[in-house]
Amino acid sequence: MEILRFDRSNNKYINEAAQLLAESFPQAYWDSADEEMQQILEDGKLAFMATENESLIGFAGAMPQYGTTGWELHPLVVRADHFRLGVGTRLVLALEEAAVDKGCITMYLGTDDEFGKTSLSDTDLFEDTFMKIESIRNLQGHPFTFYQKLGYKIVGVIPDANGIGKPDIFMAKRIGQRGNSHR
Ligand SMILES: CC(C)(COP(=O)(O)OP(=O)(O)OC[C@H]1O[C@@H](n2cnc3c(N)ncnc32)[C@H](O)[C@@H]1OP(=O)(O)O)[C@@H](O)C(=O)NCCC(=O)NCCS
Repeated sequence: MEILRFDRSNNKYINEAAQLLAESFPQAYWDSADEEMQQILEDGKLAFMATENESLIGFAGAMPQYGTTGWELHPLVVRADHFRLGVGTRLVLALEEAAVDKGCITMYLGTDDEFGKTSLSDTDLFEDTFMKIESIRNLQGHPFTFYQKLGYKIVGVIPDANGIGKPDIFMAKRIGQRGNSHR
C-alpha cells in the first residue's frame, strides 16, 4: 500500500474516489460525489490517497477553517474490503503531519450518528449532555472508536443534527505545538 498526496492531476483516482464516497455515504453523496471531490481537491486544502495495485483503497481530506490553526478532517473513507488493515490510520497520520506543517494546532471532525450506532442516538442530548458524552458506548462499529484510538477526544455534539435523535459527534485532537504524541 502507498500513501500519496491526492490532487487534481490524479484523474483516474478522482473517479474511483467519487464512487467510493457515493457508496460509503449514499445518504449524503448519491448524486453529488463528483462535485464533492472537486471541493476536496481545491487549492489550500489537503488530501491523501491510499493505493494498492493501481487501485484507490481509501482517501482523506482536511481544510483550514480557523485561519491556519484549526483544520477540519473531512472526509475519510476506506474501501470496505480493506477495513481494519491500518489504511485509515495511515491516512489520518499523513494528513496530520501535513496540516502541522501548515500551522495546524487542532484537527477536528464531525462524525454523524444517523443510524443508531452509539448510545448518543435516540436520546435528548439537550439533557445531561456531558454525562451522556462521558458514558458513550459504541453499539455497532461507529467510527468514533477509531478516532479515539488515534488520540481524538469527543468535545461536543450537535443534538438532532441529522433528525430527531440523530446527532453529529464532534471530536478534536491537538496535533501542533505540544501535540504530535501519536507519532
Ligand atoms: C472508519 C474507517 C475510516 C476506519 O478505517 P480502517 O482502515 O478500517 O481503520 P484502521 O485499520 O486504521 O483501524 C485503527 C483502529 O481503529 C479500530 N477501528 C476501525 N474502525 C472501527 C470501527 N468502525 N469501530 C470500532 N473500531 C474501529 C481498528 O480495529 C483499529 O484498532 P486496533 O488499533 O486496536 O487494532 C473505515 O472503517 C471507513 O472508511 N468507514 C466508512 C466511512 C466512515 O465511517 N468514515 C468516517 C466518517 S467520520
